[in-house]
Amino acid sequence: MTKHIPVLLEAVKKALGDVRGRTIVDCTFGAGGYSCAFLEAGAKVIAFDRDTNVLEDAQSFKQKYGDKFEFINSSFTEINKLSSDDFDDVVFDLGISSMQIDNGERGFSFRFNAPLDMRMDERNDLTAADLIKNLTEAELADVLYEYGDIKKSRLMARILKEKTPTTTFQLRDLIKNQNDVAPLFQALRIAVNDEMGQIKSALGDVRGMLRTGGRCVCVTFHSLEDRIVKNTFRKWSEVVGDPRLPVITTPEYKLLRPALPSVEEVENNPRARSAHMRGVEKIQ
Ligand SMILES: C[S@@+](CC[C@H](N)C(=O)[O-])C[C@H]1O[C@@H](n2cnc3c(N)ncnc32)[C@H](O)[C@@H]1O
Repeated sequence: MTKHIPVLLEAVKKALGDVRGRTIVDCTFGAGGYSCAFLEAGAKVIAFDRDTNVLEDAQSFKQKYGDKFEFINSSFTEINKLSSDDFDDVVFDLGISSMQIDNGERGFSFRFNAPLDMRMDERNDLTAADLIKNLTEAELADVLYEYGDIKKSRLMARILKEKTPTTTFQLRDLIKNQNDVAPLFQALRIAVNDEMGQIKSALGDVRGMLRTGGRCVCVTFHSLEDRIVKNTFRKWSEVVGDPRLPVITTPEYKLLRPALPSVEEVENNPRARSAHMRGVEKIQ
C-alpha cells in the first residue's frame, strides 16, 4: 500500500518555529510523517487518530521514542480531555490519508469494488450505505450539494434513495456523468465522518486551551474546510471594540503567514494540489 507523503510539512515546520522542548498535539497522526518530523526536531508529541489501522505505526513510534510520544486512538475532538498544561502547540492535517484511500476494502475509492463503508473510525457504526438509507431524500441532496458541490443533487439523491447502493461499484454505476463520481464519493465521506463538525468542535476547544506563545496550524484539502479554518482564525485575531474609542482590547491571537504547496511539491505529490496551510499564535 502507498505510504502517505506528508503535505506542506516544510511550511508547517516553519510556522511552528523552533519546537525543541515543546509538546505538540498532532491531531491527525496518519502515517506519522508530521509526528516524526516534530520528534526528530526535539519536541514531544501527543498524537490523535481515530483510525484503528494506524495502531501498528503508532506502536512502533512508542517503541522508538518512548516517553516523548503518546498516542490516543480517538477523535481529536477529545483534545478537550487534555489539560492546557499538557501541550504547547496543536497541528491538524485534515482529510483522508493515502492508506485509507488506497485500501480497497474500506470503500473510500471508486477504483476498487467494496462495501460502501468510508468510516475513518470503524468502531463507529454508521457507514456510507447506512447514511444513504437513513437520511431523507432532502437531507441527502443537501449533503451532495454542500460537500460535493453537485449541481443535480436533488436528482442524484432521488436515484440513491431508490436504488440504495451498498457497494462502491453499485454507487459509481448509478452516476451518468462521470465527473460527478469523485465529488459524490467525497461528499459522502465528509458526511459519514462528520469532518466539518469535528474540526469546528476541536478548534472551539483549542482557542481556550493554548497558552501564550502557543500555535495552532491547520492543513486543509477542501474549500469548505479551509473556509472554516480561515474564518475561525480571523475571528480569534480580531481587535475587539470600537477602534475610534480609547479602549480597544488587543487580540488574543495573531495570524501566521498562510502557505500553499509549491509547483514542485504538487508535481511530486498530486494529493497536495488543493492544500492550504493556515496558522495562529496566541499572543495574550
Ligand atoms: C491527511 S492524514 C494525516 C497524515 C499525517 N500528517 C502524516 O504525515 O502521515 C489524516 C489523518 O487524520 C485522521 N483523522 C481525520 N479526522 C480525524 C478526527 N476527527 N479525529 C482523529 N483523527 C482524524 C485520519 O484517520 C487520517 O489518518
